[in-house]
Amino acid sequence: MGIAKSPLIVSSQTSPHKNLAKLVLKYQNSEFQDSIPMHAVNAFEIANQFVSSDKVILDSGCGTGESSYRLAEKFPKNKVIGVDKSIERLRRSHANGDQPDNLLFMQTDCVHLWRLIKQAKWNIERHYLFYPNPWPKPGHLQRRWHGHPIFPTMVSLGGLLIMRTNWKVYAQEFMQALELSCSKQVVANELELDVDTAFTPFERKYIQSEHQLYEVVSNL
Ligand SMILES: C[S@@+](CC[C@H](N)C(=O)[O-])C[C@H]1O[C@@H](n2cnc3c(N)ncnc32)[C@H](O)[C@@H]1O
Repeated sequence: MGIAKSPLIVSSQTSPHKNLAKLVLKYQNSEFQDSIPMHAVNAFEIANQFVSSDKVILDSGCGTGESSYRLAEKFPKNKVIGVDKSIERLRRSHANGDQPDNLLFMQTDCVHLWRLIKQAKWNIERHYLFYPNPWPKPGHLQRRWHGHPIFPTMVSLGGLLIMRTNWKVYAQEFMQALELSCSKQVVANELELDVDTAFTPFERKYIQSEHQLYEVVSNL
């Protein structure tokens, strides 16, 4: 039986959104002030103790955490935080029960976590965003990370930011938003990856489905 292919992203939006620059600049000049729920603060306290003063690798939207395990192995001297808002996905991350000492999973919303990390001044060495939800309808621009009011906070966390997506428009917009937000160089690549070295389950699914994959990188 063949592998079920993942459909390509279909959208009436085929190029960067015309309101992107206006939105990015608007959020850059305003402080995001939604209140942070107590459960997010409590989850952060545990992570804060785990991190201590060490350098951190953040895997935001880690899903089932496969990439977090790989990162923890690849960077044994760092603390790796795998974060996802879905408890169902995170539960599957504990399936093999053999978690490296430098890895912690958190169930929380990045919108809250990134603000708490900023306040606590964590030393972020790398920040991975593997295949964020694309929200492909034009009206969903503000749900994409670069169209969300949290974007300036995410940028301010610093470190090497690495975002991967299978939607070219998302990569283009993410790159533009970064360029508008900071004076750092932003590089976008088309990836040539092999299914055997896929870093995440979504990446594996997209490679098997022969999607073109994109990566946007900036040393913030
Ligand atoms: C398309 S999946 C990618 C999962 C994984 N990175 C991979 O590549 O296999 C996007 C993930 O982001 C998570 N997510 C979306 N919005 C989030 C948020 N605001 N905070 C934390 N996780 C979020 C979802 O629960 C989902 O697991």
